[in-house]
Amino acid sequence: MATRILKKPAASIRVYAEADELALKAARRFARLADQYVVGCGRFTVALSGGSTPKKMYALLADKPFVDTVPWGSIYFFWGDERCVPPDEPESNYRMVYETLLSKVPVTQENIFRIAGEDEHHKRAAKVYSKTIREFFGTDSPRFDLIFLGMGPDGHTASLFPHTEALKVDDKIAVANYVEKLEAFRITLTATSINNARNVTFLVAGEDKAATLKEVLEGPHLPEDYPSQLIQPKDGTLLWMIDEAAAIFLQ
Ligand code: 6PG
Repeated sequence: MATRILKKPAASIRVYAEADELALKAARRFARLADQYVVGCGRFTVALSGGSTPKKMYALLADKPFVDTVPWGSIYFFWGDERCVPPDEPESNYRMVYETLLSKVPVTQENIFRIAGEDEHHKRAAKVYSKTIREFFGTDSPRFDLIFLGMGPDGHTASLFPHTEALKVDDKIAVANYVEKLEAFRITLTATSINNARNVTFLVAGEDKAATLKEVLEGPHLPEDYPSQLIQPKDGTLLWMIDEAAAIFLQ
C-alpha cells in the first residue's frame, strides 16, 4: 500500500516511501491492467514513457514474476514521445525500452509501434505515427488503455514542453514539436490524445521534481508554464505515483 494517499480534483496521488517501491507498485499496476484488458478485450494497448524514472519499472517487468505472468503476446506497445534520433542512439526512448524490457520478454514484434525518430523530416515522422495509431484504433480519437508519463523538473510531460507549439494542438494525434531549450525537435502525443486514454499514470520520483510537482498539483492552472497540468483525462483515470522525495512540498 502507498504510505500516503492524497486527493486532488480528478486525480489520485499515491506517495511511496522510496523510488524502488514506486517502481514495484507501477509494475504491478501495469500487470494488473494488462490482465484486465486482455481478459476483457483480448488486447492491452499501452504508450510508454522515456527518460530515466520508468527504467526500474521496466527492469522489474522483465524479471520474475512478471516475465512469466504478464500476457506479453497480447500487448501493443506505443510511445508517448520520442527524441528525433535513430533507434540505436543512446538518447532514443525506443532503445531504452527495448533494452530494459522488450528484448527480455516474449512480445510479438508486430505489436511494437516505434516512432521513426531517425526521419529527419520530423513532421512526416509525426504524421506517419499519427496514421499508424489512427489505423490501429480505427478512429481519429484513439483510446489507449494505459499511458505512462513522466514529468520533467520544468513541468513538461511526454514532449509537451513549456511554451512550445504542441501545447496548442488539439486536432492531431501526434506532432513534431520544436523545443528551443533543447535546440531539437521531439515527436509527441498531443495532450488531446493523452486525455482520451482510459488510464493515465504519472511516475515521478526525486527531490528535483518536488517544487514543480507542488505547482502542477496545488498551484494555479498555468499549463503554458506547467504542461503536465494539461493532462486531465476526459473519461479515464489519472493517477500520480510519486515518491516521498518528490512529494515533500505537497499538502
Ligand atoms: C523523455 C520523456 C520525458 C520524461 C521526463 C522525465 O523523452 O524524456 O518522455 O517526458 O518522462 O523528462 O524524465 P526522467 O524520468 O528522466 O526524470
